Amino acid sequence: MATTITALGHAAFQVETGGKTILIDPFLTGNPLATVTADSIAADAILVTHGHSDHVGDTVEIAKRTKAVVVSNYEIVSWLQEQGVPNAHPMHIGGSHAFDFGTVKLTIAHHGSVLPDGTNGGNPTGIILKTEDGNIYFAGDTGLFLDMQLIGEENLAVAVLPIGDNFTMGPDDAVKATKLLKPTTVIPHHYDTWPLIAQDTAAWAKMTAAETSATPVVLGVGETHTL
Ligand code: NI
Ligand code: MN
Repeated sequence: MATTITALGHAAFQVETGGKTILIDPFLTGNPLATVTADSIAADAILVTHGHSDHVGDTVEIAKRTKAVVVSNYEIVSWLQEQGVPNAHPMHIGGSHAFDFGTVKLTIAHHGSVLPDGTNGGNPTGIILKTEDGNIYFAGDTGLFLDMQLIGEENLAVAVLPIGDNFTMGPDDAVKATKLLKPTTVIPHHYDTWPLIAQDTAAWAKMTAAETSATPVVLGVGETHTL
């Protein structure tokens, strides 16, 4: 069974791999782009990159209903447990852990991570999800950083990079990031949710195809890429 990535809007994605459903940053309620709802979506695992509300999103509600294991940094996991999340696994930057759905490794990200109620959410992270069909890097919210060169040694099938600018990298820095990461495929996220982060994805794709070895894949909401 192939591994697939489906865009849910903004920074939210659904990965199907080895018969498991993994949600990344499931911000659905209040997400202008979302076409699925928190009360019906399936999940075996939820991965949260950082504490901001447009990433933690509906994690608490979905985790309580589905009993999905939530994986995030130690501070965010502690907060989620206080909110009543029954199954959570703390990690931190640089650490890897093998789960039944694949191996997760947390990376650095340059951003903030305060939780919705003001609690300190530790440091923001990126996530490498290693599946039987290839390694997927979710950069989360971040600016460009040169250590992406090291992440590029992880043999990435897919890199999911922000291109919205203002709060994260914009399209030009996403192209520089792609050169450092050397993925087979690059998928943009964190754009067009609000006017402030509106982007010309066709222009980004053209620039990526011209300047990097990666194939740019723009996923509309509900669209799927197969590894
Ligand atoms: Ni953020
Ligand atoms: Mn964000």
